[in-house]
Amino acid sequence: MMKLAVIYDSKTGNTKQAADWIIEGMRKVADCEAKAFSIQSVDEEFVKESKGIVIGSPSYAAAMTPALHAWLLESGRALGFGGKLGGAFATEQFTHGGGDIVVQDILVNELVSGMLCYSGGGACGLPVIHLGPVGVNNNIEKHNGMELYRDYFIIYGQRFAEKTTELFG
Ligand SMILES: Cc1cc2nc3c(=O)[nH]c(=O)nc-3n(C[C@H](O)[C@H](O)[C@H](O)COP(=O)(O)O)c2cc1C
Repeated sequence: MMKLAVIYDSKTGNTKQAADWIIEGMRKVADCEAKAFSIQSVDEEFVKESKGIVIGSPSYAAAMTPALHAWLLESGRALGFGGKLGGAFATEQFTHGGGDIVVQDILVNELVSGMLCYSGGGACGLPVIHLGPVGVNNNIEKHNGMELYRDYFIIYGQRFAEKTTELFG
């Protein structure tokens, strides 16, 4: 059984929702056991055994949250991320609220940990997801809403699980 972990920070539930959709996509792939954890309650044994780890954050001034950054520095290091497949996702409240930069911020952290980073990019056809999926909520922009991005998170999770299985299965 291929274990996959999604680890996120979330105060008002949007990033948790995105994590749950990624898990839904991962579970479409045979023999994958996928679980999501808030940084407040990470199952460290499960993460250590996971070959693929996807990390997500709200955009806080176009960066990952300070809490996620602290967790990555303090706890993430001890969980043996090196050599695993890494992915990243974000949520934001403005279409131009820095989500892609948050994803990049997380990917850079993963690279420094020695992870192999993957998004699918242009290699999986439509929808193309360049760096990682970003959801925009409807706090401010009433035409927006997380539900509009649901399918992107699901397909991203599926692609990530397929690649992890291909590489480590
Ligand atoms: C301190 C703070 C800073 C934020 N900065 C941004 C920002 O720069 N751009 C943006 O689009 N949204 C910003 N937001 C909104 C959140 O990114 C957005 O509502 C996100 O979906 C919240 O995720 P959560 O529901 O998982 O906590 C900020 C929110 C807080 C509390």
